[in-house]
Amino acid sequence: MIETIRWVNNSIRIIDQTELPSKEVYLNISRVDELIGAITKLQVRGAPALGIAGAYGMVLGLQELITSNEFVSGKKVDEIAASLIGSRPTAVNLKWGVLRIKGLIDLTKNKKTSEMMSSMISEAHAILVEDIESCVALGLHGAQLVSDKFSILTHCNTGGLATGGFGTGLGIIVTAHQQHKRIHVYVDETRPLLQGARLTSWELTKEGIDHTIIADNMAGYLMAQKKVDCVIVGADRIAKNGDAANKIGTYSLAVLCEKHKVPFYVAAPTSTIDSAAKNGNDIPIEERNHDEITHYHGNRIAPAGARAYNPAFDVTPASMITAIITEKKIYKGPHYNFAD
Ligand code: MRU
Repeated sequence: MIETIRWVNNSIRIIDQTELPSKEVYLNISRVDELIGAITKLQVRGAPALGIAGAYGMVLGLQELITSNEFVSGKKVDEIAASLIGSRPTAVNLKWGVLRIKGLIDLTKNKKTSEMMSSMISEAHAILVEDIESCVALGLHGAQLVSDKFSILTHCNTGGLATGGFGTGLGIIVTAHQQHKRIHVYVDETRPLLQGARLTSWELTKEGIDHTIIADNMAGYLMAQKKVDCVIVGADRIAKNGDAANKIGTYSLAVLCEKHKVPFYVAAPTSTIDSAAKNGNDIPIEERNHDEITHYHGNRIAPAGARAYNPAFDVTPASMITAIITEKKIYKGPHYNFAD
């Protein structure tokens, strides 16, 4: 299993995803501001992995306060939590991981600092372990929807690099492969940051899973040729009604699936469901630096002065999602009730 994020020697160790696939570089992060930088640069990314990062990030924050003999006030804890949550506003797992540890700080504030620290570290470890287990359960549920000889199209990266375990959407693909189903995967390159071409293809190569990288704008042509049996994507936040935010380009795939009658599946742990968001309109969409569009590998590709637009996510309406696959069960669309 890829060790995407771990707690090692009182710091967070991550694999730097901006260096993949050419180099496997690990970074040790011991300060919250460094972690926020790494999250913003997408050195660590993917909703469930961000949940784990948020939890360990709160531990780092408290550790910093304690070692600098600062009083652990509610206000300081709130500030650390808010800056972590704000670093990637769409992925609700980040907020979820941060708040789970923050809740514990509130509960243990009358204990000795050493006890407070050890209960927080244990809770962050528990979040990592739960995520590893959740990937296995989700993979087994989802693999029921994948038949032998299926050709699956996926977008962005929903694998081990995006989670603590072996992935959500990609976890389903890995599980189907382990069940000896002869599958083929079309990997959207995923402009602008190429998580598909760089990261998903790297993971599938490691797993020995047959795959082909395509440019994002080729999916319609493939579906018209009946080369896609289903699409499996992840999610960064799912509203109460099932509307799902995921990497920009996901909605376009859902539209193509509707046109070509291809099942469109969203795979995500229940920690991605935000019951406070009534529908997709309540999901904040992160807008990223325009250089990601106007530049490629540090070189400007657009004319000087050309404007760009760079929303990192889009929202697929629940009515267009065939099913949402979680670690608990498969929720069948088009009407979703996650209280079941
Ligand atoms: O901007 P990223 O790379 O963090 O976006 C990630 C995605 O959109 C994933 O599909 C999503 O987080 C699900 S990961 C299991």
